[in-house]
Amino acid sequence: MELETTFVMIKPDGLQRRLLGEIISRFERKGLYLAAMKLIQVSDDQAAQHYAVHEGKPFYTQLVNFITAGPVVAMQWRGNDAIHLVRTMVGSTHGRDAAPGTIRGDFGISQSDNLIHASDSPESASAEAAIYFAPEDCLDYTPTLHPWHYDVKERTGEYPC
Ligand code: CMP
Repeated sequence: MELETTFVMIKPDGLQRRLLGEIISRFERKGLYLAAMKLIQVSDDQAAQHYAVHEGKPFYTQLVNFITAGPVVAMQWRGNDAIHLVRTMVGSTHGRDAAPGTIRGDFGISQSDNLIHASDSPESASAEAAIYFAPEDCLDYTPTLHPWHYDVKERTGEYPC
């Protein structure tokens, strides 16, 4: 088990559908803790950086148009194995296929309008966070309940951004 910080974005549909509180609440209740958060309008340049891996795919233009269609909430969440954990809580890409109990499974029915983005690896978490946050935006503070969420009953190690 490794303490990780993952990048998460509530996409324009999630914000417009007033699902921000519901989604944040799920991460909090699970035992993750918030390290950074901001409400932003994604620029074309940021969208191009974020989705560089999809450039050239048939849905690339749709992807950029969608993520820039309205404000989003960019966040960093921290916890043990946070990257895998958040991806599990988010569910499969297509809302139709996502398991009930996941965010997309409970609230989504679309492939493009799928409410939320979550990084799939430590490398993408760092790279994606750097598109939207300055290093000092990510706060390193003591999560006082941390020992009560995990089987290790003491705070150990550092809590880096
Ligand atoms: P996400 O995993 O957050 O980042 C890439 C996004 O591309 C993915 O969510 C979907 O919203 C979108 N996507 C993937 N495949 C398709 C597709 N075939 N058509 C439209 N959008 C897609």
